[in-house]
Amino acid sequence: MDNSRRKALTGIGGLALSATSTLLAAPVFSNEKVSSVPWEYKELDSNLVAARAYRGYHKHGCMYAVFEAIIGELADRFGTPYSTFPFEMMSYGASGVASWGTLCGTLNGAAAAIGLVSKNPRKLINELYIWSEETALPNVDVAILSSNNSNTPNPVKGVSSISGSVLCHIIVAKWCKKSKKGIDSYEKKQRCSQSAASVAKKTVELLNAELNGTFKTQYRFTQETKSCFKCHTGTTSVKNNSQGKMQCTTCHTNLTGIHNL
Ligand code: HEC
Ligand code: HEC
Repeated sequence: MDNSRRKALTGIGGLALSATSTLLAAPVFSNEKVSSVPWEYKELDSNLVAARAYRGYHKHGCMYAVFEAIIGELADRFGTPYSTFPFEMMSYGASGVASWGTLCGTLNGAAAAIGLVSKNPRKLINELYIWSEETALPNVDVAILSSNNSNTPNPVKGVSSISGSVLCHIIVAKWCKKSKKGIDSYEKKQRCSQSAASVAKKTVELLNAELNGTFKTQYRFTQETKSCFKCHTGTTSVKNNSQGKMQCTTCHTNLTGIHNL
């Protein structure tokens, strides 16, 4: 190799060469910035989305079910940017995040979808979460879930229960107690896949209402929970030592000896 050729390879030419091979090896990204949130929301049919969530649960679990039902439906009807979303990442949320029993995957997936397409995510999430604490779930009509997809089990109506919680551990424990069925039972999978459908349906109703300007807050914190906030949450409270908006007495069932209110 003569000097000029060596120079070209190790100098500017060499740089260009290695840059080209890096480009070839890397996954292809467009130069366009991924559009910032919120992505535009377009009206969806809540029953179709519910049925899709029911099917999705049996593929990648509860969080994927709700998120993919909403954003996947937008993707099928409107293409990009919705179709660019890596939906399968949402499988991490199954059974309260990798089976930890923390935040219910259906509510996690719903909040993610709301976070992506709503202009008022906190308002909609508050409404959805209080609704989910206070509503006997699942509450979806199984007739709308029947699918022609042979990979999806036939929906069977079962026991519904009020959880007073957004936490998978508490929701499932209360349901098991009431239904006398186990975590690994067919009925439990029915319960959670139908709850995914219920939550997806409710979420689409909220998003549609926001889009049409008809959204109204319907669910509020219970008087009791509000009273706890007064003394335990926020800088103007006496104690300012409680983080969160979950129903307090679901866990703090006995406050005698601490304070009598
Ligand atoms: C009128 C104000 C007030 C309200 C309302 C109130 N608390 Fe308290 N809470 C206190 C105070 C003050 C203490 C500290 C008691 C002590 O030091 O003796 C306390 C203590 C507690 C403690 C023990 C830990 C601690 O901070 O010392 C828990 C748990 C608790 N409250 C939960 C609740 C829940 C749940 C509710 C709603 C059902 C509630 N509180 C409503 C004022 C209140
Ligand atoms: C999912 C169950 C759960 C829910 C819901 C819950 N808590 Fe707690 N809370 C706990 C646990 C567990 C502790 C820790 C208890 C301990 O260490 O003694 C705790 C601790 C506290 C403490 C004591 C902090 C301290 O300094 O000792 C307060 C006050 C409290 N919670 C208030 C509330 C209020 C108000 C709500 C509702 C907005 C609420 N909690 C909802 C489970 C819960």
